[in-house]
This record gives sequence, C-alpha cells and structure tokens, in this order.
Amino acid sequence: MNVEEYITQHTTPEDEALGWIVRQTHQRAIHPRMLTGVVQGRLLTMVSVMLAPKRILEIGTFTGYSAFCLAKGLAPEGVLHTIEKDDELEDLIREGIAVGKADGRIVLHIGDALQVIPHLDETFDLVYIDGDKREYIAYYQAVMPTLRQGGFILADNVLWDGKVLEDPLPPDPFTQGIAAFNALVQADPQVENVLLPLRDGLMMVRKL
Ligand SMILES: C[S@@+](CC[C@H](N)C(=O)[O-])C[C@H]1O[C@@H](n2cnc3c(N)ncnc32)[C@H](O)[C@@H]1O
Repeated sequence: MNVEEYITQHTTPEDEALGWIVRQTHQRAIHPRMLTGVVQGRLLTMVSVMLAPKRILEIGTFTGYSAFCLAKGLAPEGVLHTIEKDDELEDLIREGIAVGKADGRIVLHIGDALQVIPHLDETFDLVYIDGDKREYIAYYQAVMPTLRQGGFILADNVLWDGKVLEDPLPPDPFTQGIAAFNALVQADPQVENVLLPLRDGLMMVRKL
C-alpha cells in the first residue's frame, strides 16, 4: 500500500451524493481525472464547516464534486455559487444537484467565470479556484474585490505536477500561469497565504 492509499483509507469516505457524482462522471464525462478526490474533498468540507460561510464562490464546477464538498459547511440560508464554462456538463450538474437535494443552496452559472463574476452582487466568505490554470491571475483579480476582509481563497493545482519547480520554467502557458499566480499571491500585501502539499498543491489565502 502506498501513502496515498493509506491516507484515503484513513479519511471519511464519500457520502451517497458524492458517490453518485463520481459514478456518473466516469460514465458520462470525458475527463474524470479532473474530479477532486476523497481526501481533498473532505478537506474542503472541513474548511467550509470551520468557516460556516454564508456565501461561497467556486470557479470550475466540472461535475459538481467540490461544490457538494464545500456546500456541506454552508451556514443556514447560505448559498454556493458555482461557475462552469462547458455547457455540455450542465445536465449532469443539475441532476447531481437534484439527487443531492441541494436546490437553492448550490446555484449553477453556465458561462465564463470572468464574465459571470462581475454580475454576481455578493460578498464572498470563501472562494475555490479550480478553473483554467492559465487564468488563475485573472480569477484572483476578479474575486478579490468580492471577498470580504478575513475571507479565504483556496486555489487548486498550484504545484502543477511539480512543473512550477523546474528551472528554467517550462514555457507552456499552464505552468507559466500557475507559477505567475503563486508569485503574485506571495507578493500581495493584502493577504497571508500557505501552500499545502496536498495532492497537486492547494494554496490557502486569507484576505487581511
Ligand atoms: C479541474 S475541473 C474542476 C473540477 C471540479 N472543481 C471538481 O471538484 O470536480 C476545471 C473546470 O473548469 C472549467 N473552466 C475552465 N475555464 C473556465 C472559466 N473561465 N469559467 C468557468 N469554468 C471554467 C472547465 O470546463 C472544467 O470543467
């Protein structure tokens, strides 16, 4: 058994709604690898439960796995807004919301996050960034004004399979995008941050 299997075996497993999303994603989606897994999903739930946010924003719904994980911690009457660009995923996401009885608590927006965010008249307590890796800086700049003081941003895949450590930095726009995002956060006096080496790297940011 490797360390990842051991960690998974000692983490609370997925509930029925998440199990449904995983099965349907493998049957119906093209890139099931994009699913947030059991361990990171449980961490998202734990963070959300600790914060009891009233408003959560997610960029990059895919099939809804992380949206469900985060929504578990919402305060009563709380709402999670999640944005997905790929309209072919809409039916699957909406079915998942119905199966998980999350209507009203999870609000799906189909469209480009960079166009949707300016129209959301909300102040967010927690933001999860998991969209296009080339656009992380643009997401950060779009969400910062909507994040309350003391609010948190979590950004996934910030180690990008270790490529951000390579010297010279690979020229592909994904690695460049993530590396530039990490540097921007690190230099931003408005925040404190910690990069967790969980899975593909999770950046936790708190707005001061
Ligand atoms: C890694 S997947 C998200 C995984 C998801 N958070 C989960 O836990 O299963 C990234 C998703 O972001 C979406 N995406 C990419 N660029 C986007 C954008 N500008 N606005 C909204 N969604 C975007 C992609 O279509 C894809 O479904």
